[in-house]
Amino acid sequence: MNRNIALIGFMGSGKSTVGQRLARRLGRDFVEVDRLIEKHSGKTIPEIFRDSGEAGFRDLEEASIEEVCRTAQDAVIALGGGAVLRPANVERLKASATLVYLETATDVLQDRLAQSRKRPLLDRPDRGRFIEELHQARRSLYEAAADITVLTGRRPFAAVISDIIEKLGINESCNR
Ligand code: S3P
Repeated sequence: MNRNIALIGFMGSGKSTVGQRLARRLGRDFVEVDRLIEKHSGKTIPEIFRDSGEAGFRDLEEASIEEVCRTAQDAVIALGGGAVLRPANVERLKASATLVYLETATDVLQDRLAQSRKRPLLDRPDRGRFIEELHQARRSLYEAAADITVLTGRRPFAAVISDIIEKLGINESCNR
């Protein structure tokens, strides 16, 4: 059995796209924690924030991460950008997965997130400056949690995925 591969990083760093393609290339299942939260609650992420606030969302997120870490095997898991905020999440993830940090420059994140309508934390007039501050505040959490770090943003997803496979030392012929 292989360990799970968990993708962490800021909103807009490409966790969903990279995760989906990485899983397909390795013939593994793909699990996106935000989609699991939506499935369990029957609400979208913006609806959860509206009804229960960020704290309510974080509780649902912790419960879904606990479930994924208990049940997923050989999977690629994409986390939400705030999953590293609770030490309990990081502990659980580290016990069941290799953590891959998708590192992205702040200006790339600002460009990618400029039009996003599905991220309640960014619903504010000073979005660009807020992204800069939040990215700065969270960067050390991603770095501390990561087993490996891969640069994303200014290069094709295929290069990012090859980089992850190489850094993880995965022999693809054994994964098909
Ligand atoms: C969040 C990131 C989002 C989602 C929620 C909170 C965050 O996921 O979990 O809106 O705190 O950074 P993505 O990183 O997939 O956008």
